[in-house]
Amino acid sequence: MFLRLSLLSFLALTGAMQSPSTASYRRSGATVSTEWQRGERVSDDTPLQVQIALAQSNIAEAGSALIAISDPDSPHYGRHWTPSKVARALAPAAEDVASVRRWLNGSGISSGRVGRSHAGDQLRFESTVGELGRILNTTYYQYTDVNGQDAQVACEAYHLPLSVASLIDYITPTLPHASARSPERKRTTARVNTSYTRRTRDVTSSPEPFDCRKYTTPSCLRDIYGIPAQPRAPHPDNTFGVFQLAWVTWRPEDLDSFFSRFQPELVGRRPLVERIDGGYLQYDYNVTAFNLEPDLDFSYAMALTGSQPVVNLQVGDMFKLGNINNMLAAFDKYYCGALDPSIDPVFPDPLPGGYNKSTDCGTVAPPNVISISYSWNEADFPPEYLRRQCNEFLKLGLMGVTVVVSSGDTGTKAGPAPGMCNDPASGSANATNSGRFSPQWPASCPWVTVVGGTQLTTQTNNTSSPPPTFPANSSVSETVFRVTAGDSVLSSSGGFSNVFSTPVYQLGAVAEYKRREKEHLAALAGQFNGGGRGYPDVAALASTYLAVVDDKLTTVFGTSASAPVFASIIALINNERLHAGKRRVGFVNPTLYAHAKVLRDVALGANDGCGVSEAFRASAGWDAVTGLGSPDYEKMRRLFMSLP
Ligand SMILES: *[C@@H]1O[C@H](CO)[C@@H](O)[C@H](O)[C@H]1NC(C)=O
Ligand SMILES: *[C@@H]1O[C@H](CO)[C@@H](O)[C@H](O)[C@H]1NC(C)=O
Ligand SMILES: *[C@@H]1O[C@H](CO)[C@@H](O)[C@H](O)[C@H]1NC(C)=O
Ligand SMILES: *[C@@H]1O[C@H](CO)[C@@H](O)[C@H](O)[C@H]1NC(C)=O
Ligand SMILES: *[C@@H]1O[C@H](CO)[C@@H](O)[C@H](O)[C@H]1NC(C)=O
Ligand SMILES: *[C@@H]1O[C@H](CO)[C@@H](O)[C@H](O)[C@H]1NC(C)=O
Ligand SMILES: *[C@@H]1O[C@H](CO)[C@@H](O)[C@H](O)[C@H]1NC(C)=O
Ligand SMILES: *[C@@H]1O[C@H](CO)[C@@H](O)[C@H](O)[C@H]1NC(C)=O
Ligand SMILES: *[C@@H]1O[C@H](CO)[C@@H](O)[C@H](O)[C@H]1NC(C)=O
Repeated sequence: MFLRLSLLSFLALTGAMQSPSTASYRRSGATVSTEWQRGERVSDDTPLQVQIALAQSNIAEAGSALIAISDPDSPHYGRHWTPSKVARALAPAAEDVASVRRWLNGSGISSGRVGRSHAGDQLRFESTVGELGRILNTTYYQYTDVNGQDAQVACEAYHLPLSVASLIDYITPTLPHASARSPERKRTTARVNTSYTRRTRDVTSSPEPFDCRKYTTPSCLRDIYGIPAQPRAPHPDNTFGVFQLAWVTWRPEDLDSFFSRFQPELVGRRPLVERIDGGYLQYDYNVTAFNLEPDLDFSYAMALTGSQPVVNLQVGDMFKLGNINNMLAAFDKYYCGALDPSIDPVFPDPLPGGYNKSTDCGTVAPPNVISISYSWNEADFPPEYLRRQCNEFLKLGLMGVTVVVSSGDTGTKAGPAPGMCNDPASGSANATNSGRFSPQWPASCPWVTVVGGTQLTTQTNNTSSPPPTFPANSSVSETVFRVTAGDSVLSSSGGFSNVFSTPVYQLGAVAEYKRREKEHLAALAGQFNGGGRGYPDVAALASTYLAVVDDKLTTVFGTSASAPVFASIIALINNERLHAGKRRVGFVNPTLYAHAKVLRDVALGANDGCGVSEAFRASAGWDAVTGLGSPDYEKMRRLFMSLP
């Protein structure tokens, strides 16, 4: 008792000694935390185990290094880093850790109380609600989740002095952590809607063969993009993975039914399942919302790469869906301590099969190519969270991993279809069809390769209508993916990040686009950040794919299909390079922007959204709706084979 009193008076003294006008940086939660209800204040003597996640150092240098090893004209091309070199280079700098310790000591947390985690990425100490609340200038409350099943001590926002704010990723416990339990299936399925659900049309009884001008099949893609029908046998080091969330599940019957029509030699072949954070696959609900995405992704990834094993990176358990960060932490043990409990499904997870540090931290070797067909709204996350996750993509690039991401289907809007725009005053993504354009995440990170969508001018413009009829001799060209789907318009997402600035590898392409489209873009000037990372980087067909979902042959639309197609091409090129004794291609953007001729420029059409029906237009060269264009396999292969 005496100790606590004297400690408090000591704290009051040191607190008074600090400059009262210290500028501070405020951290508040993501929209995820709306599932928590605030209750009573928590008493000051409540004990807290505090963890400070330390920021990485040398991020700018690491970005330059990635550009150098990915630049086809650099002597460093292809010299990927080992995981330990990455870890050493980016570890929190000693002087930064000393600054944080000095700040703590000056706030009354003497150095003797502060320990450092084994991985070196966190400082830890024991404190109380009263002490931490004073240091962070915040108030702690009891929070209960909306089902009344889970409780936690948390605060609404906290403050850090500017001198240390950039040295700290976050502090726990502070903001409410992501819900530990959401046992209602209804709610889980609603969350699965963060992936795009596209309208489908049953074409089981349509006459065959399918005309490639109307439908997209593996052989149509091979014809259009020049992908080899008989890829070389897989090199043992060639690996290719596709990310999926918990609950969404491919069905063996659907794959076999698809293969028997379009790739008979693959009947019986399955993805290799890598379970991360539970890796929950479910077969109780065979519905489009759960089966469409993985049925589509694996059908095409497997058909296009032939006998290449394709890994299903299945992330999340039955109760907490999992997210991209759970996958990234499984690749990188140094990232586990930096997952943000206010957003990421992490500890505490009391349920069996949930997030488990001994099995889900740095336990999975990242495949050479990773395809991600999910997108979220950049505006729904704090910028520091986005930067930290983007750094993990940077680290994967340094290690030679190619991350391929779909741009999204909601044009200049983001989030589940029909998408949202950003409220101009607050920046929140809560405006339905007006306001500022809302960038997609993770597409807006400069260290991933983003694939936008195209369609053929002979493919349908309406997801519920059969393909149109046209004269046999009509010309066919590739245009921006844009269709009506019920009451919504779906179109290739593209635009500019509000968080990340234009990376050096695309500065010339973006400047040229802005010059070419000057007058058109002037009318949109208030709606986007002209200095942002422009996306997509490339494009591929997104229209009228045939897939078997829940036993029915259906048409499927969206850039969800474009990403695994482009990723398959990279996997095939990696295979050729590995057979030739070369290294995998890694981060491909600098090479593609430097040799845009290996892509087929798309210069027709525009995306839609936020009250603008002709937003970003496709045009000669890079544009913010189809990027540099769609792949020409043979040209890409020759380019990458010519590099060391
Ligand atoms: C910690 O704070 C105490 C009291 O203000 C001070 O005497 C001491 O020098 C500080 N130590 C460090 C390492 O900053
Ligand atoms: C403490 O937080 C309040 C708002 O919660 C803010 O008005 C005040 O400026 C903060 N003080 C410091 C020193 O950061
Ligand atoms: C997904 O959202 C749509 C509309 O936003 C809704 O009609 C549908 O039922 C949802 N799907 C699931 C599986 O909850
Ligand atoms: C769903 O599909 C799976 C895999 O094909 C099958 O094993 C399961 O019985 C089906 N479930 C239901 C409820 O029909
Ligand atoms: C985490 O995984 C380890 C190793 O499989 C296991 O021994 C442990 O019980 C698990 N922890 C929880 C909380 O499930
Ligand atoms: C969006 O949210 C902000 C606060 O975050 C609020 O001020 C604004 O009115 C909201 N806009 C809409 C259209 O709901
Ligand atoms: C779809 O719309 C695009 C752009 O308006 C147009 O060029 C194309 O001919 C249309 N396709 C069909 C089949 O109507
Ligand atoms: C799309 O096709 C459906 C079914 O044929 C039709 O009911 C709907 O009106 C069409 N939508 C548009 C915008 O043409
Ligand atoms: C297609 O054939 C028709 C009738 O033979 C002809 O009038 C038209 O010019 C042709 N169009 C093209 C693009 O060749």
